[in-house]
Amino acid sequence: MNLSLNEAEDLAQGIIHFIKETSSPTSCYFIAPPFPFLDRLQTLILSQKSSLLLVAQDVSAHEKGAFTGEVSALHLKEFGVKGVLIGHSERRHYHQEKTNLLQQKTSQCLSNDLIPILCLGENLQTRETLNTISFVLNQLQEMCLPFQENIKSLPSPSLLPPLMIAYEPLWAIGTGHVPSLDEIREVHKNLKNALKSLFPNHNIPLLYGGSVTDKNIFDILKLSDVDGALIGGASLSLKTFLPLLKETRR
Ligand code: PGA
Repeated sequence: MNLSLNEAEDLAQGIIHFIKETSSPTSCYFIAPPFPFLDRLQTLILSQKSSLLLVAQDVSAHEKGAFTGEVSALHLKEFGVKGVLIGHSERRHYHQEKTNLLQQKTSQCLSNDLIPILCLGENLQTRETLNTISFVLNQLQEMCLPFQENIKSLPSPSLLPPLMIAYEPLWAIGTGHVPSLDEIREVHKNLKNALKSLFPNHNIPLLYGGSVTDKNIFDILKLSDVDGALIGGASLSLKTFLPLLKETRR
């Protein structure tokens, strides 16, 4: 719930300009604005013929019907949305979203050709008790297993992946505390191996998120099992986001 519509449009315009200036066929950029901004931002993206993709921050677990206040996957698709964040730590924490609900949301996405971006990560206590790897692998399995057959049967390679994963340690989100490169490397290596055995015919992108800034993104993206980044605070103004974006093209 950040920014006004005008601020969001200015920000999107700056990002669109950056992508145009530095175009690279191997890079893909997406923004995840609040629901009410999707329409105007999609109009902006289309009018500029930009490759910037729209992602929603949430979706209903239901297909359609009397669910006041909910937004369905079909609605999002109609607005040109390409993917949805599922299980972001704020949804898990403030809205008590649990695996079962997250699976239903993922299922709605897959039935409507939206890319679920599944967010997972350990809290500080799990990190300190050295259980991070088994915890995140377990989270990955429980969120992905129900869809293994469905995703396996999808054609590959297509332009966009059927699924993305974002590893976001809870203690790193919005805190300025970032895991060491070795810690990120270790988690990503394990998650990437698990993804390869879950979905052997797809290269599922694995993003890192949590206090990413222009100061650390270059080194994080250089790690071999890091395919991209999910950025919160640093993406909210061009002043902090443009220097970060430039680092992605260094
Ligand atoms: P942050 O947020 O970059 O501000 O840590 C990440 C997120 O909200 O996913």
